Amino acid sequence: MTALKPIIAIDGPAGSGKSTIAKLVAKKLGLSYIDTGAMYRALALKAKKANVDFRDEGNIAELAKTIDIDLRYDAKTGQLTVLLEGRDVSEEIRKPYITDEVSSIAKIKEVREHMVTLQRRLAQGKRSILEGRDITTVVFPDAYKKFYLDADPDERIRRRYLEMKEKNMPVEESNVKINIEKRDRIDSTREHAPLRRAKDAVYIDTTKLSIDEVVNRVIEEINKP
Ligand code: CDP
Repeated sequence: MTALKPIIAIDGPAGSGKSTIAKLVAKKLGLSYIDTGAMYRALALKAKKANVDFRDEGNIAELAKTIDIDLRYDAKTGQLTVLLEGRDVSEEIRKPYITDEVSSIAKIKEVREHMVTLQRRLAQGKRSILEGRDITTVVFPDAYKKFYLDADPDERIRRRYLEMKEKNMPVEESNVKINIEKRDRIDSTREHAPLRRAKDAVYIDTTKLSIDEVVNRVIEEINKP
């Protein structure tokens, strides 16, 4: 199979630094940035608004079929705007009531099929960097360069806690721990497209690395012929 030259794919668990790194690499290399987790989060929000039970897989899949999501990344400000049905939901989808349950809808087969189609469409014809849980394995297994970012669970919990505090979100570190452990478990053991390390993805343990060090490492790899 031929490698898709304009596509860079990153996977990894929560708090491994995927979003931060992908945004900075997008900015430096002028790529379009696609946060696939934001898409699952937007669907979770849509389901909440429609009062659809997250266990009701048939109805959640129906919502996924008709969802209208747009991602706009402004490289100058580093801001990603997530539009659901034309409304800016960028902040809402990061709230704990969404984070706590998003993995339950992300494990539904039909949901994943629709999301993968949307993600491929969003990236079509553009030089793009995508990050998520199944980008290197399912969405773009032939991506030009593939990465798996990782970090020790304690460090990932710490990072997410600090990030939420910085955004003035009311949060307890113990709850962040519970959420990250729960999502790690659901995301990596689900039947469809579980989070796993592709054999040909470059593995980067970011536990002891600075953001700049990871960005440089990724760019170095992208620039290798
Ligand atoms: O930013 P964080 O790592 O906390 O999560 P996210 O990337 O926003 O993703 C939220 C959730 O969406 C994950 O925990 C997964 O359950 C799901 N997801 C997925 O299943 N597949 C993807 N490609 C991206 C996210």
